[in-house]
Amino acid sequence: MTGTGKFFVGGNWKANGNKESVKKLVQELNDAKLEDDVDVVVAPPYIYLDYVLNNLNKRVEVSAQNSWVGKGGAFTGEISAEQLKDLGAQWVILGHSERRHILGETNETIGKKAAYALNNGLKVIACIGELLEEREAGKTTEVCFGQLKAYADAVPSWKDIVIAYEPVWAIGTGKVATPQQAQEVHAEIRKWLADNVSAETASETRIIYGGSVNAANSAELAKQEDIDGFLVGGASLKGPDFATIINSVRSKKPAA
Ligand code: PGA
Repeated sequence: MTGTGKFFVGGNWKANGNKESVKKLVQELNDAKLEDDVDVVVAPPYIYLDYVLNNLNKRVEVSAQNSWVGKGGAFTGEISAEQLKDLGAQWVILGHSERRHILGETNETIGKKAAYALNNGLKVIACIGELLEEREAGKTTEVCFGQLKAYADAVPSWKDIVIAYEPVWAIGTGKVATPQQAQEVHAEIRKWLADNVSAETASETRIIYGGSVNAANSAELAKQEDIDGFLVGGASLKGPDFATIINSVRSKKPAA
């Protein structure tokens, strides 16, 4: 079974940039020629969301990198899903490994966050992925399935979810998964969705790969049948490189 969803490329800017570099990146993205048949989303730091929403071409949708687990209120330093929606953001990234492993977010909290965001009209880029020691211990699918189950137990539907498979050992390390390694896990994820949610969800849900994707390796990765796009960190900070990654959808299409 292969995916039937539209190719999807997200740029996760993390805690990078300043007013000047954000302005430059927005300008580069506005100037870039992007293929039509790709959904494109960028995730700036919270403080630049409003600027990006107001200045970036509407061709590109905008995501936050996190949201509070429930209704807003007395939670110092947090941002609620309602506030993101109010600003005009369409997406939120949840379950990123940096939040799991540096900030200590659990599967259960992430599931709740996803449910709350979806119920408040945001779409979710739901991240999963194993640590190097988990891969080496042969636990890649066990870990990924546990993370998937936590989403499945909490969310009302998979309609507005994109799954980002990001092996932790490949994030920001320059050590990209081989196309075969990524394809293998993506196929397992799709099968898990078919077995545990529905065949329809398995074919319609985009499963994107993240971890050291760059302008030089994206075309090869995109050829894999279960890779429906990318979540890009470092290389999304350079407009022309990010555009090349977006346009790697071309390698997905049969040659004309
Ligand atoms: P990277 O980050 O592309 O810099 O490896 C990917 C991510 O964390 O989403």
